[in-house]
Amino acid sequence: MDAMNIIRDEHQSLAAIIHAVHYMLKEIEAGSLEPDFKLLQAMVHYLKAYPEQRHHPKEDQYLFARLRQKTGEADAIITRLEHDHAGGEARLEALETAMNRYEADPKGGYPVFVEAFDSFAKFYRDHMITEEREILPLCRKHFTEQDWEEVSAGFRENHDPMAGTARPLTHDDFQRVFSKLVAAAPAPIGLGAGPYRDD
Ligand SMILES: [Fe+2]
Ligand SMILES: [Fe+2]
Repeated sequence: MDAMNIIRDEHQSLAAIIHAVHYMLKEIEAGSLEPDFKLLQAMVHYLKAYPEQRHHPKEDQYLFARLRQKTGEADAIITRLEHDHAGGEARLEALETAMNRYEADPKGGYPVFVEAFDSFAKFYRDHMITEEREILPLCRKHFTEQDWEEVSAGFRENHDPMAGTARPLTHDDFQRVFSKLVAAAPAPIGLGAGPYRDD
């Protein structure tokens, strides 16, 4: 059931990033940190490249399609989750617009970005919880060993470079998440990362 671990791992990485950005926004609000727009850009690039363009399509193609074949039990939930996936581009566009506004006007744009990020984070939390609590148990119930082998082969493609990022707890962990995030973001952000690279 390798696919199960990969899905959980990719969810965990995304949760870690969301947690780290929330932490960063709180520090900015407290006046102890300056906004780092390069980092925020890296986050948006990463979210586009992995969760939206790789993780969700893998779920649609390998997990949901097969579960639909096996049972009608999950049809309504799958339809809802597919709808969530289809909204990925618009969701990221809203986040990017708020980020650009924040960069152009750090004072006035801050609450706009915080609101956009909060709603993005809430959406993702709910989405991942539904997948883990409702879809994965049904897969466990209906998939054979052969199913898992085929689904896992699909999930091993395009492995998320942030995978394995545990939920951060300390300030050093946040730095590590951010460094990895910038390094994992596609070019030009990732390649121009300089000071953030720690590898
Ligand atoms: Fe998903
Ligand atoms: Fe997912």
